[in-house]
Amino acid sequence: PYPNLAPRPPMGWNNWSYYSCNINEKVILDNARALVRTGLAAKGYDTVTVDDCWMAKQRGPRGELVPDTTKFPHGMAYIGQELHRLGLKFGIYEDVGTLTCGKYPGSYGHFKEDARLFAQWGVDYLKADGCNVPRPAGRTKEQIYRDVYEQQSRALLDVGRPITFSVSAPAYFQYDGDAVWHRVIDWSARLGNLWRGGRDIALEQQSPATKWSSIVYNFRYNAGLAALQRPGRWNDPDFLLAGDSGLNRHEMQSQMSLWAMMAAPLISSTNLAGLSPEAREVLGNQEIIAVDQDPLGEQGKVVEQNDGYTVMSRRLGNGDRAVALFNAGDAPRTLSTTAAAAGLPDAPSYWLHNLVTGHGRHSGGTIAARDVPPHGTVLYRVTARAGGQDAAAGA
Ligand code: DGJ
Repeated sequence: PYPNLAPRPPMGWNNWSYYSCNINEKVILDNARALVRTGLAAKGYDTVTVDDCWMAKQRGPRGELVPDTTKFPHGMAYIGQELHRLGLKFGIYEDVGTLTCGKYPGSYGHFKEDARLFAQWGVDYLKADGCNVPRPAGRTKEQIYRDVYEQQSRALLDVGRPITFSVSAPAYFQYDGDAVWHRVIDWSARLGNLWRGGRDIALEQQSPATKWSSIVYNFRYNAGLAALQRPGRWNDPDFLLAGDSGLNRHEMQSQMSLWAMMAAPLISSTNLAGLSPEAREVLGNQEIIAVDQDPLGEQGKVVEQNDGYTVMSRRLGNGDRAVALFNAGDAPRTLSTTAAAAGLPDAPSYWLHNLVTGHGRHSGGTIAARDVPPHGTVLYRVTARAGGQDAAAGA
């Protein structure tokens, strides 16, 4: 990809899980303005991506992509201008096949001209889906996908505009066995800046229970991909659902915390104009955002996991560890690990800073949380202290 893009996991907003195809200029720009008004943009949520269904069903007379003018009467360059005027970046969706998943024209056979058009529109981020990729006989599915994503990547490079590139290829290999799936992630990481590895997070019209199970599913598969991620090359487990979604506070908080542990892109998909104070607090928690955006860029690792709970630890740039205690079960549960198991150096004491409540306390080496609520996560930033408890308290 274009050099030095996405040194930290991308952040922003995308319409898909809340609005699906029911988008238009007003929906996009109202949400963009809300991103600024709520203060989330200033905290890093800076890229607004228009997902599928923004186009007309046919290309224009010169083979060019054209927007659906009922939805986007002022065109897409205007969206780019308005987003830039708000200090935001412009993301757009396309597909490397002949059609998008929603059956709008894909970029297959048009990579160069489409990339030039996106650059003219001021696009800063491309999400390239992989529905409807033609499958000529004699080549493997992997060869075919690799070839089209390479063409897409090269086309973006050739226009010379820094465009962050989100690759969906791995999501189309998630059921083909781990060997090929991981290989596809490996080349996706060389072609782009982030990639979708697995299933779509649930949509707004689905039930809160379905949303929650999709979060847990995406968390578990993505936690297993830690070894494939590198700083600047991010696993993307899909959208944050905090907002008008029917998830309770603990569930929203868990998703935010677990995504931060995985150095995941933080891409909200909700109606930001109606954002509850609670959801705003979850999405806007600066200390959790700082974990996600930590300069080491290293995805956290699972320390211990079963059906009922997960303990994760993430190495941070200043030597701290972020430790998450996630209760996946339906009853409150006390969860614990040790400083040693979490990878902290041996020390006389540790400072446990709870990133949700803001409270801190000393510990001798046990990292525990009592009665973690059902579906809840306790997230600590843990610092090893050289002196004993008193010395640390005086520091
Ligand atoms: C599949 C992707 O995974 C979704 O995020 C969304 O972009 C839809 N395609 C749009 O058709």
